Amino acid sequence: MFTLDLVEQPFTERGSRLLVTAGPDGLRVARAEYETPLDQTTELTALVVRDTDGRTVPVASATPSEVAFANGVSLMFADPATLVIAGQHAHASWRLSDGTEQAVALTGCHVLTGPQGSWSATAVRAAAEARWEEWFARMPPVRADLAERARMAWWTLAVNLLPIGGREGLVPSKYGYVGVWNWDALFHAVALRHASPALARDQILLLLDHQLPDGQLPDVVHDHGVLAETTDLPRSDLARLSEHVGRANGVVPSSEPVPVTKPPLAAWAVWKIHQTDPDLPFLASVYPKLVRAHAWWFAVSDPDGDGLPEYLHPYSSGLDDSPVWDYGPRAEPPDLNSYLILQADRLADIAEAINLPTEAARWRSQAAAHTELLVARRWDGTRFRTLAGGEPVPVRTALDLMPLFTGRLPVEVAAALEQELRSARYWGEHPVPTVAFDDPTFDPDAMWRGPVWLNVNYLLIEGLHRSGFAATADELRLRTLAMVRDAGGLYEYWNPLTGARATRATSGFGWSAALFVDLAAGLSELTDDHLDGKTITP
Ligand code: GLC
Repeated sequence: MFTLDLVEQPFTERGSRLLVTAGPDGLRVARAEYETPLDQTTELTALVVRDTDGRTVPVASATPSEVAFANGVSLMFADPATLVIAGQHAHASWRLSDGTEQAVALTGCHVLTGPQGSWSATAVRAAAEARWEEWFARMPPVRADLAERARMAWWTLAVNLLPIGGREGLVPSKYGYVGVWNWDALFHAVALRHASPALARDQILLLLDHQLPDGQLPDVVHDHGVLAETTDLPRSDLARLSEHVGRANGVVPSSEPVPVTKPPLAAWAVWKIHQTDPDLPFLASVYPKLVRAHAWWFAVSDPDGDGLPEYLHPYSSGLDDSPVWDYGPRAEPPDLNSYLILQADRLADIAEAINLPTEAARWRSQAAAHTELLVARRWDGTRFRTLAGGEPVPVRTALDLMPLFTGRLPVEVAAALEQELRSARYWGEHPVPTVAFDDPTFDPDAMWRGPVWLNVNYLLIEGLHRSGFAATADELRLRTLAMVRDAGGLYEYWNPLTGARATRATSGFGWSAALFVDLAAGLSELTDDHLDGKTITP
């Protein structure tokens, strides 16, 4: 078990909207809601426990199962909607959001938030402990030096689970991202497959349940519906986007509604779950939907019809403020077509598994033809070019290296990308910066303008393996794990110069937790000697 700091790690539960955090005048209870700051959902503040002499009693420890005060009083979840405070010979007081002061002399179990009912403290504690014990028992084994961070990650995955869109979905963070985001769900599924393949499959189904009639997968599934086009965007997002999209060349987004989605990695995630826990009926049930989602990119998201789809909105790339978007609202960094090529190969794998050999062959030749087109049109002899509004733009981002993900590049092209990754442009103590160190827009703290993100590293690690660069893949994996281990938390993104949390990154971030666990699982064959022996110097 590990202890919660009640600042970065709130006391909360799987399935619960309630978050208990430390405030200036005692504990605070707030609710996690879609796009709503916690100060607008606060249920109570200034929760303080006093002994019979009126002295304030401090919190002695906070664990996943209880917040324990020094005099034996405990705060626990009786169920996801019910927080109880239990103890004897003590007083508790707090302030409701309308300003009303409340106080109670504790003689057993008192419901603090939630429907009134009678609970036994002993039974509530025993159930909470059993629940957490069972969850932690399912954590994949990891190397000793990674165990503490892995436990924190494993806890994060559990508490970020909430009923959303008709299933149990994993939200990116109860601080600020309360919904199921498309590609986040896929990364979450990659880790959940180790503990509960059914829960992993639910993350996929949650997205597919909300597929649009034309095949598009939404960007977000949330409590009030979906975010699938620009008219669904919260006002704050529109303001943020208008600040930077097109600022380098003055191209302004049109006011016409544009679809909003996330990169096409669903078949990739489905196949990973299948490799861990084969389930042919599941494959057969999702295959037609994955096929329609794949076709959507060519039918709707390839405005110039050149067979190389583009992102029609920054959010669809998942890299909201990347400098790629400084050149306007329509862009084609090299990752999108790389994902589509891999997706065609995965659709081929699925088609083979469910006995559709003709379709499988068609997908394979599509993947080969798509790769040829990507190389012929976008490889300039030294690099893959990013286009915005159909024109090449000067930015260098880690997405330039993503064609490695296909595993289908001509040998000399793949070798050039691996060399580029190992050059001073991208390699350092804490690779991989999302924008090249020598790009004029590089900023080590600004979201997708430089910081390290675990999903980009994870996809590159896979790509390196698939393209035959196992040693570089292993070193990137070890460096990524060491950075997360040493920085202190499961942040959203990290500063590539220091390896520390970047200034505005949130914590308790779902895919950082998920991908850290997945990268750490099965690492036993890689030791630090291995790292020392193969250190890459740019
Ligand atoms: C941010 C990220 C995006 C992610 C979302 C939810 O908007 O840029 O990639 O999907 O948060 O975590």
